[in-house]
Amino acid sequence: MTIEVWLLKFKVSPVYLTIEASLMLACWSLKFPLLGARLYRAIIMHVSSLVEFRSSPIHGIGGFARNDVASGTRVIEYVGEKITAAESLRRCEQNNEYIFALNNGLRLDGNVEWNPARFINHSCEPNCEAKPDGERIWLVAIREIRTGEEITFNYGFDLEDYQDYICHCGALGCIGYILAEEFFDHIRKQKQFRSEH
Ligand SMILES: C[S@@+](CC[C@H](N)C(=O)[O-])C[C@H]1O[C@@H](n2cnc3c(N)ncnc32)[C@H](O)[C@@H]1O
Ligand SMILES: [Zn+2]
Repeated sequence: MTIEVWLLKFKVSPVYLTIEASLMLACWSLKFPLLGARLYRAIIMHVSSLVEFRSSPIHGIGGFARNDVASGTRVIEYVGEKITAAESLRRCEQNNEYIFALNNGLRLDGNVEWNPARFINHSCEPNCEAKPDGERIWLVAIREIRTGEEITFNYGFDLEDYQDYICHCGALGCIGYILAEEFFDHIRKQKQFRSEH
């Protein structure tokens, strides 16, 4: 378990945050940069301005709105490692689910410790969408989000092995699988066909 996940699981309070920050500075001044960097990342996850990370009813850890958020707001940046399309293909074959296409032909692999947005869960009725902006990806609110509401977006998965990805988003219109919205009609027709035969 990483330091970040450990801290999230045990809901570290602002008091501990101050202690973490002092430890981080001490690590750097004592020339333990790696430990200092990991503490820094843990702190980033706690203070990420609009989103707090904690246990989710959907799955594992999720992101939740700290305040009311207006539609159109950039809620959090989805950061990661920039890689080529060929490298992305190789990583996708290893079941990496965190890769986004950027506008410049490169890909962004968000499966890195310093990307707290990787904890944000999928929903069939999401309140955010992932929007590329040049070399960056933002999760942008597509409607007003209330304080404490879980931040979600549609992961945009295709139909390949979709039955392996059962959705627990809990939305009224949940389609039952983690799937891009363009495939919802296909699933609805399949369900109707099964119920009639
Ligand atoms: C990018 S991670 C999201 C963070 C995850 N909650 C965690 O604690 O690691 C993606 C994984 O979370 C789970 N997940 C996300 N959204 C889900 C949903 N709506 N229903 C079921 N599982 C979900 C799936 O296991 C998926 O492979
Ligand atoms: Zn769902």
